[in-house]
Amino acid sequence: MTLRDIRWGQAKSLRKYENVEMMPQEHAELLFRIMDVQADTEFASVQQHRPWMDQAPTMEDRWLQAKVMEDEMRHGLQVCQVLRMFGERGSARVEELLSRKLGDHKLDSFNIPFHEWSDVLAFTCFVDRVGIYQLGMFQECSFGPLARAIPLMLHEEQLHIGFGYNGLKRMVQDDSYYGNKEMAQDALCKWFPRALDMFGHSKSRNSQLAVDAGLKRTTNEVAREQYVKDVRPLIDALGLWMPDPDAGRNIG
Ligand SMILES: [Fe+2]
Ligand SMILES: [Fe+2]
Repeated sequence: MTLRDIRWGQAKSLRKYENVEMMPQEHAELLFRIMDVQADTEFASVQQHRPWMDQAPTMEDRWLQAKVMEDEMRHGLQVCQVLRMFGERGSARVEELLSRKLGDHKLDSFNIPFHEWSDVLAFTCFVDRVGIYQLGMFQECSFGPLARAIPLMLHEEQLHIGFGYNGLKRMVQDDSYYGNKEMAQDALCKWFPRALDMFGHSKSRNSQLAVDAGLKRTTNEVAREQYVKDVRPLIDALGLWMPDPDAGRNIG
């Protein structure tokens, strides 16, 4: 098997799809829906960050946050390029995505404003981290143009979660910095359930279909469990406590 072959699912070992017409219709439809949601989250997060653009507590924070916004905007552009491969329908959806305002977005996590700097940090640390699980699967997925767009996005998402983690750590440990440990814990409790919701419904038919289509490597529930396992030591290292993964959830 080479890098150009589909690695799992119904078409395993065949060449990756290079355009949507090559895909079984049901799989192409699912790709459209996944890209639609992905693009929406990228643009939405810029709207959430925007009020803090010149409010960050330090010069370095201001620069890094501006970098996060620039990256997310380009991720949105890259995902829209995949949507445009669906022809007129894709182009129309891109126009619609560009007109959406905060509050109109598909996932709850992306309609919640950042009231405190701790929201910026906890969001990038815990919600952006979910993106890494999704993008990591797309990197090897059956749709070639998407798989090839992912490495740079993944690299940048690593920077985003590092920015969030380091900021929260400073909030806990450095009295001269913005906020304090309680504020960091509150922000963790606010965003952790929203991050877990982002993996999607455990019993969703589309979750298994995405695996069959070679788009996602694991189901929503398996990815969510792995996330909880991975963030537990990070939360411990911050000196914070992990909220109950089943509490405060809207999607499970
Ligand atoms: Fe992104
Ligand atoms: Fe990000």
